[in-house]
Amino acid sequence: MSAEKKIPQHLAIIMDGNGRWAQQRGKERSEGHIAGMEALRRVVRYAAEYGIKYLTVYAFSTENWGRPREEVEALMGLICKGVEMEAQQLCENGIRVVVIGDRERFSAEVKQAIDNIESMTAAGTTMTFVLALNYSSRSEITTAVKTIAGKIERGELQASEIDEKTISQALYTASMPDPDLIIRTSGECRLSNFLMWQASYAELYFSDVLWPDFDRDAFNEAMQVYAQRDRRYGLVKK
Ligand code: FPP
Repeated sequence: MSAEKKIPQHLAIIMDGNGRWAQQRGKERSEGHIAGMEALRRVVRYAAEYGIKYLTVYAFSTENWGRPREEVEALMGLICKGVEMEAQQLCENGIRVVVIGDRERFSAEVKQAIDNIESMTAAGTTMTFVLALNYSSRSEITTAVKTIAGKIERGELQASEIDEKTISQALYTASMPDPDLIIRTSGECRLSNFLMWQASYAELYFSDVLWPDFDRDAFNEAMQVYAQRDRRYGLVKK
C-alpha cells in the first residue's frame, strides 16, 4: 500500500474532556469548551495539512440538551460565534463546511449562522469540514427509516428494493465516504451514538489526552497508529 493510501480520507473525532480539563484547573466548564474550540481550530489546520478530505467532529449531541441550562447556552453561544468568526478564513482556505444533525431545535440565530457558513463555503474543494450538531446516530437512522417508508407509501420504492445503499443515501452523510478513522479523546472508549452506521469498518483510536490538550504531537501519533493498522474489511490478508 502506498504511503498516500495510509492517510484517512475521512477522519471523525469525538472531542471529549473539555469539562474535566476545566475542572482540573478550577475553571467553569464553559472555559473548557472555549479551550476545546481552540483545539478544534488547530486540528482543522492539521487535517488540511495532511491532505485529509473529510473531517467530521461531534460538536453537540442530541443528548447534550440535557446538560445544565448555562452550559447549553454557553455551547450555543460558542457554536454561533465560532461559526461566524471562522467562516471567512475557512472560505479562503477552500474548506467547505457541512452541518449534519437536526437543526430545527436551534434558535433562529444559530440556524442563520449555520446556513451562512454552509453557503459561504459551498465551493470549497480542499477539505469538507462536517459539524455534527444536534446529531445522534439513532435519530439519524430513525429519520432515514421515515424517509424510506414515505417513498414506499408514495409508490416510489418497493420494500424488496431496499439495500445498504438505500439506507446510506437516506442518512445526513449521503454524499460522503464512510469514516476511515474515528478518534475519541479523554480516555473514554465508546461511540456514544456517533456515526454508528457509517463506522462499520472504521478504525477506532482512543487517546487519553483531554480534547483541549490535543496538540500536533497527539494528532501525529493518531495518524501514525492509523498508518500501521491493517484494514481487512472481513477479508483475509493477501
Ligand atoms: C465534550 O466534552 C465536548 C463537547 C460536548 C462540546 C464540544 C464543542 C466544542 C469544542 C465547540 C465546538 C464549536 C464549533 C463552532 C464546532 P465534555 O464537556 O463532555 O467533557 P467531560 O467529559 O470532561 O465533561
